[in-house]
Amino acid sequence: MLLTNLQLVNFRNYEEAILQFSSKITCLVGLNGSGKTNLLDAIYYVCTTRSFLGVPDSQLVRHGAQYFAVQGSFNMGDARHEVACQVQPGSKKVFSHDGREYEKLSEHVGKYPIVVIAPTDIDLIRDGSEVRRKFFDNLISQVDQIYLQQLVTYSRVLKQRNSLLAMFAERKFQDNTLLQSYDDQLIHTGMGIAARRKAFIAEFKPLFDEAIAFIAGELEQADLHYRSAVADADYAQLLKQSLQRDLIMQRTHVGIHRDDFEFLFAHGELRRIGSQGQQKSFLVALKLAQLEWLKIHKQFYPILLLDDIVDKLDDVRMTRLLGKVASDATGQIFITDAAHERTLKLFSQLQLECDIFKVSNGVIGR
Ligand SMILES: Nc1ncnc2c1ncn2[C@@H]1O[C@H](COP(=O)(O)OP(=O)(O)OP(=O)(O)O)[C@@H](O)[C@H]1O
Ligand SMILES: [Mg+2]
Repeated sequence: MLLTNLQLVNFRNYEEAILQFSSKITCLVGLNGSGKTNLLDAIYYVCTTRSFLGVPDSQLVRHGAQYFAVQGSFNMGDARHEVACQVQPGSKKVFSHDGREYEKLSEHVGKYPIVVIAPTDIDLIRDGSEVRRKFFDNLISQVDQIYLQQLVTYSRVLKQRNSLLAMFAERKFQDNTLLQSYDDQLIHTGMGIAARRKAFIAEFKPLFDEAIAFIAGELEQADLHYRSAVADADYAQLLKQSLQRDLIMQRTHVGIHRDDFEFLFAHGELRRIGSQGQQKSFLVALKLAQLEWLKIHKQFYPILLLDDIVDKLDDVRMTRLLGKVASDATGQIFITDAAHERTLKLFSQLQLECDIFKVSNGVIGR
């Protein structure tokens, strides 16, 4: 898979940009605040229908404009595909593939797999379980549309159940038949989701171990663990036991929406025990494993976005990482760098060719 063309209109600080990528590695250089990360985000957007920074569409529209548009052309083997979107906050988001508009945006998920290594990755370690669930849910969804649909159903029913609990409290009355029908749906989809997560982690863990050994030998005590109160338990029973608490708090305390993917180090929490460098290496290993896992399921490598990895790794690890991801076998890479001398030196040491684009205040050129 190769992204060959990208067109932006009113995306972040770009009024208009038309770009062609011919090389496997594209390096975006420019001062702080010039628009390097924004360009990576546009690539991520066209691949996934979302920003990797997790911001709403309204923030992606260039200040003062009403809408933004992004268009990308991809070579997939011998085939060529066009993805186009036009987004006007407040109106329906329009995404099309080869000229045909998607009925549901979820149809696009997984067609153009992409992996990002960026400074915001640290949130995966520091924040609560929700970001980690989201990260792994997004990943699994890229290869499993059924899982994606299960997640959508589960979150819809969970919302309905919580509203019902609130209604019971307000009206001081309880419709157990209706509650039971929601519970049945939650249990059914929840068990499917838990089983998928369990199977996923069993498959992912060896790839993660390999990546850890590669990027940081001394981090072999790092571990990744799927923790779920319901996966190996009597889901229905737990839900029943929690009912009184649920009624009082008006929300559902038991279920796969409380699962976590724990990041461990030396049998403790990575967040508490790992040094900053160890945490960064952990994250890079996680992303390398993500790359390999997607490759296994898609039969081709995802696009890799490397945003500001200079501050992430020391020279030795950076050289190893670039050496691996930029080898002939892997996919297309976009890399940003404010102090680009170091990256360019590494590329020349590794005898890797890269295309350089200079970004300055939302204008991009060679
Ligand atoms: N919706 C928007 N409309 C106009 N400008 C925006 C919008 N969103 C962000 N910007 C501007 O984009 C610039 C940031 O761009 P970006 O984050 O891509 O910079 P960068 O080149 O990655 O910088 P750094 O090297 O510091 O990471 C800021 O000047 C910001 O004000
Ligand atoms: Mg940036």
